[in-house]
Amino acid sequence: TFEVQIASTGQIIIVPSDKTVVQALTEAGVEVQTSCEQGVCGTCLTRVLEGMPDHKDMYLTPEEQAVNDQFTPCCSRAKSARLILDL
Ligand code: FES
Repeated sequence: TFEVQIASTGQIIIVPSDKTVVQALTEAGVEVQTSCEQGVCGTCLTRVLEGMPDHKDMYLTPEEQAVNDQFTPCCSRAKSARLILDL
């Protein structure tokens, strides 16, 4: 379980271990475009302003993942307690 914060509104959304970030965002009324939902297409790519993502995708290169300024919320999670998303 971790939290994501929506930078534009300050809204904090809990992401339980049995839900993806996209599912938790959708339930909170925050829409993110998705397609494959498997970390392949990059449609859901979202900028991360603060916090450390736990990358589970195959879309970003290892170098891009290491920068930790974007992640794929359809499948990736967080290593830090909170991610602040540019949404
Ligand atoms: Fe395809 Fe997230 S929806 S990578």
